[in-house]
Amino acid sequence: MEREAVLVGIDVGTSKVCALIGEVSRDGRLTIMGHGTVPASGLKKGVVINIDQTVRSIADAVERAERLSGWKIDRAFVGVGGQHVESLNSPGQVAVTGHHREVTREDVNRAIEVARAVSIPSNREVLHVERRGFTVDGQEGVKDPLGMSALRLEVETHIVTASATAVQNLSKCVAAAGVKIDELVVNSLASADAVLTETEKELGVGVADFGAGTIDLALFQDGSPFHTRVLPVGGANVTNDVAIGLKTSLQVAEELKVRHGTCDLRSVTDDDEEISVSVLGEDAGRTVSRLEVCQIIEARMRETFELMRNEIRAAGVGMLPAGIILTGGASQLAGAAELGREVLQMPVRVAAPAGIGGLVDTLLNPSYSTAVGLLQWGAASLGASEPLRYESAPARGVLGRLRDALRSIFP
Ligand SMILES: Nc1ncnc2c1ncn2[C@@H]1O[C@H](COP(=O)(O)OP(=O)(O)OP(=O)(O)O)[C@@H](O)[C@H]1O
Ligand SMILES: [Mg+2]
Repeated sequence: MEREAVLVGIDVGTSKVCALIGEVSRDGRLTIMGHGTVPASGLKKGVVINIDQTVRSIADAVERAERLSGWKIDRAFVGVGGQHVESLNSPGQVAVTGHHREVTREDVNRAIEVARAVSIPSNREVLHVERRGFTVDGQEGVKDPLGMSALRLEVETHIVTASATAVQNLSKCVAAAGVKIDELVVNSLASADAVLTETEKELGVGVADFGAGTIDLALFQDGSPFHTRVLPVGGANVTNDVAIGLKTSLQVAEELKVRHGTCDLRSVTDDDEEISVSVLGEDAGRTVSRLEVCQIIEARMRETFELMRNEIRAAGVGMLPAGIILTGGASQLAGAAELGREVLQMPVRVAAPAGIGGLVDTLLNPSYSTAVGLLQWGAASLGASEPLRYESAPARGVLGRLRDALRSIFP
């Protein structure tokens, strides 16, 4: 296989940090060469609240991925989450200059600059300016206007912003772990790359990455995103409700949820089904009814889907014909798709990353959609005709370092 580039993705999640090393071939195929996942402890709802702990988690994950692959990580695509992520749609219009009144790359860039010039407070950082489509002399729905004859060019953009300080804290942690940032990518758009098809994006679809502390949401229409949001609820809220409702530890509640939980109450037919658990402050164990566990889970999940439904309505979308694609660790809860369908009144399915080769055993799981998506995002941004943007960095010995040093003297 001819190698195009070696890329790294780091998903700094509320419950885990995952670093992946992937090789992109010339035809765009992605092969995973290294993987490190460690539990995270320095984040709350997707936002860094403890620098030291977060640096340690990132460094651990990176080191594991390096050891497994024999490659050295020095730069990475890094995911951004947290409720501070917001989005808006902004148009930009310019007159087509140039000799023959043909749209050039420069006209496109100027139009995007105009769209970008929308006032964004200084405490916000712009993460993405996605071009949604162009209008050429009043003709809407143009995907690529280059070379078209026109007097007027208008672009519609989707701009994703985040809190500048939250982004700075995350960047600081990544830098302290010894990694440079190729690009900061909002989690939902990374996950979308891992689980959505082009057809779904054209039709109209949403991705909801259901994590531990948050739901990363991105809605697509006509092939591109038009609404990006983060809801401040996740699987940890479900676990928490079970722990409070049944007076157990979080650990016991998590196990009850994962092993016995479902949000499809119709499937809990046997009223007498009992599960024995150990309870805080009691020596002897006790039993709880599975129905009771599942009722707590169902109530929280229903509320969560209602929140999602309100968010989708607030986005002003009439229909999402391809529905909502659930992913993220918490999407694995039994019955999640069924309940989602009932509450959202649209198609819902659970998806895991697909279309990758190499070390994929554990990665074909919804928990890894953001991490895999970061690599796919990076692969897409390579661009077929562009020269290698990301030079490979095999674990460097003395010779390699010497060569690097010489290169910096005699470039
Ligand atoms: N089999 C399972 N059934 C139900 N829930 C599960 C299962 N496996 C994991 N979870 C839940 O998934 C959540 C973790 O998901 P994930 O790894 O996507 O989160 P994260 O990326 O660390 O968090 P966030 O995206 O919110 O920052 C936890 O709440 C966990 O309870
Ligand atoms: Mg996540």
